Amino acid sequence: MSLLSITRPGRLLSALGLLLASWPAIAAELAISCGAVGMEYELCRSGAEAWAAQSGHSVQVVTAPSSSSERLALYQQLLAAQAPDIDLFQVDIIWPGILGSHFVDLDPYVPEAALAQHFPALIESNRVDGRLVALPWFSSAGVLYYRRDLLEAYSEPVPATWAELSASAERIQAAERSAGNSRIWGFVWQGRAYEGLTCNALEWVASHGGGRIVEADGRVSINNERAAAALDLAAGWVGSISPPGSPNYAEEEARGVFQSGNAVFMRNWPYAWALAQGEDSPVRGRVGVAPLPRGEPGQPASTLGGWQLAVSRYSKHPKPAAELALYLTSAAEQKRRALLGAYIPTMPHLYRDPEVLAANPFFGELAATIEQAVTRPSAVAGSAYNRVSSGFWNAVHQVLTGGGPAQPVLARLERDLKRILRRAGR
Ligand code: GLC
Repeated sequence: MSLLSITRPGRLLSALGLLLASWPAIAAELAISCGAVGMEYELCRSGAEAWAAQSGHSVQVVTAPSSSSERLALYQQLLAAQAPDIDLFQVDIIWPGILGSHFVDLDPYVPEAALAQHFPALIESNRVDGRLVALPWFSSAGVLYYRRDLLEAYSEPVPATWAELSASAERIQAAERSAGNSRIWGFVWQGRAYEGLTCNALEWVASHGGGRIVEADGRVSINNERAAAALDLAAGWVGSISPPGSPNYAEEEARGVFQSGNAVFMRNWPYAWALAQGEDSPVRGRVGVAPLPRGEPGQPASTLGGWQLAVSRYSKHPKPAAELALYLTSAAEQKRRALLGAYIPTMPHLYRDPEVLAANPFFGELAATIEQAVTRPSAVAGSAYNRVSSGFWNAVHQVLTGGGPAQPVLARLERDLKRILRRAGR
């Protein structure tokens, strides 16, 4: 075929026609709210820009507060006002019951084959009254980060129980300090009064066999001896193996201390791995990841986290917004995010992907952690979940900040939670 025949006017026009057919008649200007923690904003922006370049639409990426609780408050305001400003929201795994009525049913926009790629349980957790209100974007679960070099230097094993963690942290912290490393702490985690504290404290409680705050059948279980023992243990960390400022730490404060080399252990989500291993990270090559410890008696417990994408009912462009959600949650984009940012895919086949595993060696083990992860009581509390969670995190925060032993605080919390659930008709 000669060059001339390729560029014959007829062919040229039909090629142009094909190009125009895949280009939207009217380009929409969309806005997505996402990002904030770690690389989230950057990866959301690059993904959205790639979609804009191939779809002909444009996307404005609006950053959200890094605290899940502050984000929820902002989204509730925008959605209650039926504001069309944001088309696509990044929503926490615990929000479908709270915000679901403000989101478009995505079933008509999402091909069956795309849905079938995700873990079925994640699709189900995004259904509210049968409507698919969001698409899974990435999953998450609490993990323990440790300084491999320090554990080796002091011949300490990776701790399997909270008691072992406390003892190792205390020993290494004391030895490092007497060797002149005055900034070192044993253990950093998330103790601020927000959703992240609910996640941490649920892990302490559940791993001591103290239940899940509110059980799946609606029974408020938090007022028990094991839960109280777990919270008293954590309160004892503040100012001893954990910085006195711990009750003000969210994810990024904890990561800041750990990544600058000033903590032996850290509880965080998997995203911190990619950053701790980053080229400019002072702890690069010296970090290990393990399941969180358990109580005695008890089983290890990781809180299930994760985020989804939902299209606002007040969007003026629901179709392109749903297309953007599909693109961002696709296997290719989830793989890119796993490779660059250690964001956990929501599709089983990506856990077995050799490139994903090479970038995140702990992902193999993580699949089991995620499968057995403890869910927060968002399904049973429905629209009342944030009141249940804030009751819990405030009670825990009180114990952490010197408000006395946990038992009477949990007795009061039990009464409050029963009232909240009764009023919500749950
Ligand atoms: C992580 C989790 C999310 C959780 C939040 C709490 O982002 O993925 O589910 O609510 O942390 O800080």
